Amino acid sequence: MGDDDESCSRSLPMGKTAAERGLPECYLNPTSHHASLTPEVANVPTIDFGKLKKGSDEEERATVIQEIRTACRQLGFFQIINHGIPQSVLDGALVVASEFFELPDSEKAKFMSKDVHKAVRYETSFKPWRVFLKHYAHPLENWIDSWPNNPPSYRETMGEYCREVMELSLEVTSAITESLGIGPTYLNKKMENGMQVIAVNGYPPCPRPEMTLGAPPHSDHSCFTIMLQSSAGLEIMDIGDGKWKLIPELETALQVHVGDHFEVLSNGLYKSVVHRATLNSERTRISVASFHSLGIDEKMKTAEELVSEEQPAKYRESSFRDFLNFLSGNDIAEGNTFLDSLKLA
Ligand code: OGA
Ligand code: NI
Repeated sequence: MGDDDESCSRSLPMGKTAAERGLPECYLNPTSHHASLTPEVANVPTIDFGKLKKGSDEEERATVIQEIRTACRQLGFFQIINHGIPQSVLDGALVVASEFFELPDSEKAKFMSKDVHKAVRYETSFKPWRVFLKHYAHPLENWIDSWPNNPPSYRETMGEYCREVMELSLEVTSAITESLGIGPTYLNKKMENGMQVIAVNGYPPCPRPEMTLGAPPHSDHSCFTIMLQSSAGLEIMDIGDGKWKLIPELETALQVHVGDHFEVLSNGLYKSVVHRATLNSERTRISVASFHSLGIDEKMKTAEELVSEEQPAKYRESSFRDFLNFLSGNDIAEGNTFLDSLKLA
């Protein structure tokens, strides 16, 4: 997501109660970035991936593909059940994530950087109210040695999660391209050789959760993002009625965001969902976002099959590196978005 304005650069402490914390001026946001304490709850399309596995009933499979198409067009968002990743692997990822955030600042500072081109980096800010560790994850053997080795089980446990999610991402790719009518193998080779970037986000308890946000409104640059969260807090913009909707907790599910590059692939048929993270005053919320893209210099182009006289091409082609260059050259807080920069005319 956007690496936003860092007008307040003090380190955000983990593990202290909200009441023990001061209220720095700089964390208060303009009213457009205030959250509701009683948000409307989203009616989240739930996709049963068990019905897409090899050997499943053809008719059932076609129904699920249609459900994916509807979800991607209407919301750009759905959640997956029966994804096949063991609950112990999901729980393990959340546990090592929170153990990492609980480490002394000196330990985490080893990874501190604002250089968006770095393959591993840690950041902390009051505005938005968040700490995060980002790292590349695929192919795993290329990157795992550069990840934190404290907590001692971080590499193994997070590595297992990343491997499982990478596998799932190829099924998601197939299902989405099939749902677009361009076939289940349209992008799989490129995604297999593509990028997986992990963002481990921590949102400590906030004394005034209604006054600010953990992640400002944004869409993800990726083809799509697979999210795991420890508790509710993610909100999506429902383009149907223009309202923020809270994604309710469903412990075993994983959430999928359509990202900018699949909006481009689909020539705007599928929507890169605008979303944000809200806060609470009681407990730290953890999320693990896995961003899936083509190779770093591989350009995402709109599928020719989806361009016609009635539907002329709407987007320029771009790569993950183009996104990073956009990020380092633009102030996201000013409302500039990568997706807008790709729109033709
Ligand atoms: C992100 C993101 C939301 C969340 O990391 O891109 O949207 O709930 N996170 O953590
Ligand atoms: Ni995001």
